[in-house]
Amino acid sequence: MGIFYSNNDLVGIDVGASAVRLVQLKKSGGNPSLVAFGSAQLPPNIAQSDSKLDQQKVAEIIKRLVKSSNVSTKFVNTSLPGSTVFSTIIALPPMSQADLAQAVRYQAEQNIPLKIDDVKIDWQIVRENPITKEKAVMIIAAPRAKTQKVMELFEMADLDVVCLETSSIAIARALSVPSEPLIMVLNLGASATEITIIENGIVSHVRNLPIGGTALTRVISRELGLDNTQAEQFKMRFGLSQDKLEGQVYKTIKPLIENIIDEIQRSIKYYNNQFGGDVKKILLTGGTARLPEIISCFKSELNIEVVYGNAWGKINFQPSLSEKLNETNFEFACAVGLAMGEA
Ligand SMILES: Nc1ncnc2c1ncn2[C@@H]1O[C@H](COP(=O)(O)OP(=O)(O)OP(=O)(O)O)[C@@H](O)[C@H]1O
Ligand SMILES: [Mg+2]
Repeated sequence: MGIFYSNNDLVGIDVGASAVRLVQLKKSGGNPSLVAFGSAQLPPNIAQSDSKLDQQKVAEIIKRLVKSSNVSTKFVNTSLPGSTVFSTIIALPPMSQADLAQAVRYQAEQNIPLKIDDVKIDWQIVRENPITKEKAVMIIAAPRAKTQKVMELFEMADLDVVCLETSSIAIARALSVPSEPLIMVLNLGASATEITIIENGIVSHVRNLPIGGTALTRVISRELGLDNTQAEQFKMRFGLSQDKLEGQVYKTIKPLIENIIDEIQRSIKYYNNQFGGDVKKILLTGGTARLPEIISCFKSELNIEVVYGNAWGKINFQPSLSEKLNETNFEFACAVGLAMGEA
């Protein structure tokens, strides 16, 4: 631990497909307090690229963002996108803590379609039957090549990664509230949509779909014969409105939105069959949650309460910042959750 490192300073950095977001928090008695936040756009297709040159560009952007945000610590928490990890829930009979670790490894070998030596395994008990002591355990397997890539990226940016977790866990930390025992969070990003079911604050089911805002723009551009910039503007302006522009944009993106809705329904049904309990509320986050009329569309298709998540809901900040923070609400849940995590 370096001399500049204060255990009370926590920094989360979310490297998304479209931008990097940084949040620095300070632990205080109750909710953590905001110290700094900032973001920087990324040129298209470089975040996910495996080329060294692209990674250097991303590292440079992270470095500049850290500097311009006046962050003084080198120690940061970051996340792996859901698309790079494999997760599953297994049921285990009652056993000692020591046997549990072995059983998890064995089950991981059986249930994960990747070579066990090529992945890093993380797990957590999701639920325990108070009478039979049977446990539901979530196993998360991250390919070593992917974790290594993240470590190298941050090394290039002169930073040390203290904690690497999945984006769904970070987002759950920022958005879940104890009074809502069973909720779903939809993170509608640029490259992907992440469906997460959270029971009593614990991530209990994750699905990742390779459909995000970029795919919506692409289909608008193709179907309506617009260039990328125009298609992006049409998406943001008309979204899922059935009246504006005679519903042309709506009709174009509807099949992709229906795919997402089908997967939401499948996840809800699966969860109900496996574990009981009905998801009664969906929180939307991610830039694509800004799509006009998304709430009314999801509500009418799903018959469930659908609301926007509040990324800054658990953070103390100066009231004068509230307008500025509000503007970032859709994009910052992951970085906030990362910064809230234990360093
Ligand atoms: N007003 C809007 N209406 C519709 N889409 C929008 C709007 N504003 C931003 N978006 C879309 O949000 C997406 C970016 O969202 P976000 O910042 O959450 O993604 P990301 O975190 O960079 O990507 P990912 O999570 O997939 O790695 C882009 O596709 C952008 O076009
Ligand atoms: Mg994202």
